[in-house]
Amino acid sequence: MGWEVPAPDGDLGPRNPIRDAVLGTIEDLAPKLNSYVFTNVLKDDEDSVTQYSRIRSLAQRRGSLFLSVMLSCEVDEQVRRIDAPDRIARLKGSDPERYRRERYRRERDHTKLFQPPPGEAVRIDTTTIGARQNAETIHEVLLGQGLERRSRAVAARRLTDEAMAGEVQYAWRGTLTDGEMVDLVESHGGRPAVGWWDRVRQYSLGWVTARTENGVLVGFVNVAWDGGDHAFLLDPKTRSTRQHEGIGTAVVALAVKHARAAGCEWLHVDFNPELASFYLGACGFERTDAGLIHLLSEK
Ligand SMILES: CC(C)(COP(=O)(O)OP(=O)(O)OC[C@H]1O[C@@H](n2cnc3c(N)ncnc32)[C@H](O)[C@@H]1OP(=O)(O)O)[C@@H](O)C(=O)NCCC(=O)NCCS
Repeated sequence: MGWEVPAPDGDLGPRNPIRDAVLGTIEDLAPKLNSYVFTNVLKDDEDSVTQYSRIRSLAQRRGSLFLSVMLSCEVDEQVRRIDAPDRIARLKGSDPERYRRERYRRERDHTKLFQPPPGEAVRIDTTTIGARQNAETIHEVLLGQGLERRSRAVAARRLTDEAMAGEVQYAWRGTLTDGEMVDLVESHGGRPAVGWWDRVRQYSLGWVTARTENGVLVGFVNVAWDGGDHAFLLDPKTRSTRQHEGIGTAVVALAVKHARAAGCEWLHVDFNPELASFYLGACGFERTDAGLIHLLSEK
């Protein structure tokens, strides 16, 4: 997380709106999988104590590990590193002379820095040790505190499973974006066409969505109509990880109910033979004679 504008000059004090917004976003919106590193120079004062414990309790509420790391560096070495291109790109302080003066002022004034509670911080002198090695040291400490050695992919899958769990909720004409449709089609190995749902929706009598408690779209069916007695069941889809749980049957049942309520007499469907057990067996359609012309292949 970051913002591409320079921080305002001066101390914004304890009620810093940027800090509040960042911490609020991490708490309310950010995926639990994300990790955050806060880099602060904290003076030994009340505001620092508040900032420190605020971040520590935020980590607790998110179920994250919390580790404070005190970094130090010889002044000449730090001045040498201060105008590295990646620091300039991130709008970090990069003026060597200004930094040297600041360090000198702190030493002259005997400015004391905030100290985390004993035993809570890892102390690293970075003067002769490179960033990668320091990161490895911190990683080792976190592993010792219970950080799981798992890949991002495994962690992401676990979060997806959590999002998928729970009761499925069905809705007639519920909110449904084109992007969600693309994602659903991809999930069952179909070839999604971006913009398809946005185009088709206007010709629909209605559609059924099936969503998990967390709002993930897991099922869909569309009902087109002729404006009178005939409705047409089209494009049922169930997310691949949730097939054979009855979701397809349930979205069709709700579509039948609403097509009937809209005054239609007939609900038509056609399908490939291998889906007979779904349409005729599970959904209750009767077999009938029907005709079809594939317009694109007929001359
Ligand atoms: C067809 C589809 C919508 C069914 O969804 P679903 O949620 O798995 O359906 P249900 O769980 O309600 O299935 C009920 C029964 O229908 C039958 N059935 C379901 N999917 C089937 C399939 N792909 N082939 C054959 N029969 C199937 C089975 O008898 C099933 O009972 P079971 O789970 O005990 O085997 C789903 O397989 C899908 O999205 N497929 C890809 C898209 C597609 O082909 N859509 C249809 C044409 S556009």
